[in-house]
Amino acid sequence: MMMKESAYSADKINKGDTIISVRDLFKAFGTKKVLKGLTIDVKKGEILVIIGPSGCGKSVLLKHIMGLLYPDSGSIFYAGNEVTKFGEAEFNLMRKRFGMLFQGAALFDSLTVGENISFGLREHTDLPKSSIDKIVNEKLELVGLPGIADLKPAQLSGGMKKRVGLARAIAMNPDVLLYDEPTTGLDPVMVTIIDKLTVDMNKKLGCTTILVTHDMKSAFRIADRIAMHFNGQIIEVGTREEIMRSTNPVVKQFIDGSEEGPITLAHVTIEK
Ligand SMILES: Nc1ncnc2c1ncn2[C@@H]1O[C@H](COP(=O)(O)OP(=O)(O)OP(=O)(O)O)[C@@H](O)[C@H]1O
Ligand SMILES: [Mg+2]
Repeated sequence: MMMKESAYSADKINKGDTIISVRDLFKAFGTKKVLKGLTIDVKKGEILVIIGPSGCGKSVLLKHIMGLLYPDSGSIFYAGNEVTKFGEAEFNLMRKRFGMLFQGAALFDSLTVGENISFGLREHTDLPKSSIDKIVNEKLELVGLPGIADLKPAQLSGGMKKRVGLARAIAMNPDVLLYDEPTTGLDPVMVTIIDKLTVDMNKKLGCTTILVTHDMKSAFRIADRIAMHFNGQIIEVGTREEIMRSTNPVVKQFIDGSEEGPITLAHVTIEK
């Protein structure tokens, strides 16, 4: 159906082997240093959950992985290719293999649900309308919202918007699916539904999942591995059990949600 450009395809990587490698990434905005030597490997097929205090640079990291931001130094590899050496054309080819559910869903309000979901397909493929409509309906079905293609985003609840955002993210059958706080602001039942969808999508599409969340319950429910982002670096990464047993005071404080510990307001608000 869709062209898979072999150099940018993850097909040659075996499940469980490194598919994305982020090496010593630095990024500052003006004088504000956000990423300070961040390193992490992502394994093909896994659900990697990234946790960390508000403002520490989690969304910035996802945008680097997507190729939407460019680092000051350091490198990112995707399926063995050094993404940070790509030109615009190569970036565009690679980006087609990625799906992203942005923080707050970020739907186009003036477009219908169907037009939102099919945006990438209309942009990047020459599929006829009948095929595109079929894909839209399939993806809506997958996220549990059949038959709503003609609605406008304004007619949807927050949870529905997130699910439409997810349908859009999976429209092109991505190899890598990125989620930026998919459950923030949703009721506990909707959180469980989105968590289950995340795991389902990972299995059904066979894609690699990187998900940012503040919700520790979600993290422990869905993650194969959890990475703790703090002060511009990944300071610990491990399985749920390893993270639960961590003796790192930052990790312990974050999991417990305690006011006492190394994470203070200074990490969120004061420029360093
Ligand atoms: N395009 C940009 N220009 C300037 N500063 C930016 C830009 N993007 C992010 N920042 C700054 O980088 C820092 C990290 O932002 P980021 O959005 O990655 O935080 P976060 O960890 O995702 O937080 P939250 O959990 O609240 O979403 C913030 O101080 C933010 O103001
Ligand atoms: Mg964010």
